[in-house]
Amino acid sequence: MAERQLIQPRDLPGPYSPPLIGHLLQLAGQQFHLTLERWAERYGPLFQISLGLSRLVVVSDHEVIQRILEQRPQSFRRNRVVEDRFTEIGINGLFTAEGEDWRQQRRTVVAALSRTRLANFFPKLRTTTARLQRRWEMAANRSQSVDICRDLTRFTVDVTMQLAFGVDPNTLETPGPVIQQHLEKIGPGLQRRFFTLFPYWRLIRLPPDRALDRAVKAVEREVEVIVRTTRERMAAHSDHGPTNFLEALLTIAEHEGSNLTSADLLAHTSQLLLAGEDTTAYTMSWIVHYLVKFPEAFARIRREVDALIAPAAALDKLEQAIHLPFLDAFCNEVMRLKPVAPNMALEALENTEMLGCLIPKGTKLFVLLRYAATREEHFAGGDCFDPERWLPQPVGRGQHPHHTQVFAPFGAGPRICPGSNLAMLEIRAVLAMLCRNFDLESIGPDKEVREQMAVVMRPDYLHLRLQRRSLTSSDATGPLTATAASPLGASRDL
Ligand code: HEM
Repeated sequence: MAERQLIQPRDLPGPYSPPLIGHLLQLAGQQFHLTLERWAERYGPLFQISLGLSRLVVVSDHEVIQRILEQRPQSFRRNRVVEDRFTEIGINGLFTAEGEDWRQQRRTVVAALSRTRLANFFPKLRTTTARLQRRWEMAANRSQSVDICRDLTRFTVDVTMQLAFGVDPNTLETPGPVIQQHLEKIGPGLQRRFFTLFPYWRLIRLPPDRALDRAVKAVEREVEVIVRTTRERMAAHSDHGPTNFLEALLTIAEHEGSNLTSADLLAHTSQLLLAGEDTTAYTMSWIVHYLVKFPEAFARIRREVDALIAPAAALDKLEQAIHLPFLDAFCNEVMRLKPVAPNMALEALENTEMLGCLIPKGTKLFVLLRYAATREEHFAGGDCFDPERWLPQPVGRGQHPHHTQVFAPFGAGPRICPGSNLAMLEIRAVLAMLCRNFDLESIGPDKEVREQMAVVMRPDYLHLRLQRRSLTSSDATGPLTATAASPLGASRDL
């Protein structure tokens, strides 16, 4: 049988590559993901780019992406540069771990974020959501604008720390500077370091590098205190087993023969905090942005939430997606168009074939997850915002392409995000509270909200005015009558 001729990555199509620097300048900014997606449109499902002297392959074919994600950790790993950059600043945990180390860490994280843990955590999530509500009520009373991304990162840090570390920083009700002001500098600081000709910061620290150093130090100090306090608490109550991620880590570290150092503890803990914080806060921010853009959808979600919560004030029902079909459809559609991880940087661990090209071991890859999910062949009207597509379709419409397996906002395969259940619970709690209690108003002239990559994709600016919900609003019909009985201006219980 004649052997099929495979091409090499250097034979793949791709944009003109300037000598020495390759495409570094085109990809150095905070919108490199858009450049890659534009090139995918032009050069097809598999194309090459260069960063300095190294060649990378960019994949946007869904089936190939699926296979890559499924074949981790054996055949593909995260790009070594990503791991190096995180390790260098002392923040390397499950996200950047590989091989056996990854397997061990994964077990601990998955257990810490299990459904049972989440069910027990529900009362704390409710309390934290009520704090966010009070914060927004205060802003509404004073007609102050709200920086949505900042407030939501306060929320997600409070939630992640309570669930994963068993401490309650209550940054939502802490005036003045809080840990988020440091955390928010880490993403942009790292992003700058992904596309450089060489790691210049090892020779000279520019102002953004010094800002990154300061932010990392500050986070490290806060996490150190948490680790120390937890250690002391555990020593005082040695009679019960670990109840959260940090306690589980400390238990492992104390085990004879464990090679988990104090630096590892800090590194793993800080990375979990980052992984749970930015992603969920910015996903929620994108959702809020779309709620402002589509007021009819906002009203529809509100009716749905009213119908669910008003009769029994049962936020606990939020755990069951089935009760909020349109809210979930809306969130899916936002995550399809605005996933916080629109692409992933990976690396082949063995020779492999992709679409007739031999990809040698060690080849660096970008997989374009968002691009695949916006293609006409997978989702009809792929670049249009249409939450209805996620609801059961009337006969006829269901025939349009709707390939849910291409939708991967949480990744896929063995490394799929272990925090997705927590994230969806947070999102439902915040959205239900928001729709039930506030009207949204954008501020000033319509400014286009732009995508900005800072490890995760976030809105560059999202300031809104929140007003306490007006009971005369046009949607105050049907199920709303139940809530209209509550005194005007009084807060609804989420
Ligand atoms: C809407 C919110 C979130 C989104 C969109 C998101 C998205 C992702 C994505 C795309 C990945 C990479 C998956 C892959 O490689 O296939 C990931 C990994 C990860 N996420 Fe999330 N995430 C979210 C929330 C969370 C939360 C709340 C936590 C924990 C508190 C978390 C912890 C992690 C960890 C530890 C990993 C690394 C998993 C591994 O490599 O095995 N994430 N997430």
